[in-house]
Amino acid sequence: MLGRKIHVVFTGAPGCGKGTQARILTEKIDIPHLSTGEILRAEIKKATPQGLQLKELLDKGNLATDEMIIDIVSCRIDEPDCKDGFILDGFPRTCPQAEAMQKMFAEKNIKLDAVIEIQVPDEIIMERILGRYACMKCGQGYHDKFLKPKVYGVCDKCGGTDFYRRIDDNRETVQNRLVNYRALTYPTIPYFENQGLLRTVDGTSTIEAVSKKIDEVLGIDK
Ligand code: AP5
Ligand code: MG
Repeated sequence: MLGRKIHVVFTGAPGCGKGTQARILTEKIDIPHLSTGEILRAEIKKATPQGLQLKELLDKGNLATDEMIIDIVSCRIDEPDCKDGFILDGFPRTCPQAEAMQKMFAEKNIKLDAVIEIQVPDEIIMERILGRYACMKCGQGYHDKFLKPKVYGVCDKCGGTDFYRRIDDNRETVQNRLVNYRALTYPTIPYFENQGLLRTVDGTSTIEAVSKKIDEVLGIDK
């Protein structure tokens, strides 16, 4: 534990490393990693009517509605495991979500420490996303080139031997996700910058080097 509460948002283009860095940080400071993408994918798996609607949106790289996402996040951060803080990954993703988050945090007496933007150019993004896969059992992420399991075909973390690739990780969908990022999510960057909350980290170096920079930004000494 860190000995203080920490509330942090990871933002940035698809594939910039939000999930990778959030997972590393959560292991160091033991606070939950709340990925709205993962929450939505879990809903899709249940095949509920809402899940089927979401599947149509996510498979094409389009966003879920602000109302739904805001409601999901508001309920999730009320759960007991969030009492010492949390890492939000992929939320807020639009200006209305950013404004709703600020309002929600004020009502719940939560202090936002930082919004960390992981900056990676588009040409790197495509290679990162198209090479990504994850362990079916524990969700640990890997990459064909940048992050291979120590033993071929065996998850380092849980020993699982089944892996999957995300349906939205294809070239066409990634192009659309990038278009949506620029149009809808990027405008939240100046919004947080104006409030003195934005910390931009260069995401083009190695996973370990990016993690070190994030630790420095958050004042984590590990
Ligand atoms: P989400 O799951 O959040 O997808 P995303 O934003 O497109 O981001 P990714 O998960 O693809 O990438 P990442 O930044 O986590 O990168 P990763 O660490 O895996 O959302 C999915 C969908 O859900 C959205 O498109 C939308 O439809 C919906 N949604 C979610 N939130 C929403 C919201 N708030 N509102 C509305 N709709 C919402 O890294 C990628 C790969 O690169 C990995 O293989 C990794 O190993 C590798 N890698 C990472 N860092 C490095 C490095 N430094 N060097 C080399 N390789 C690296
Ligand atoms: Mg992710």
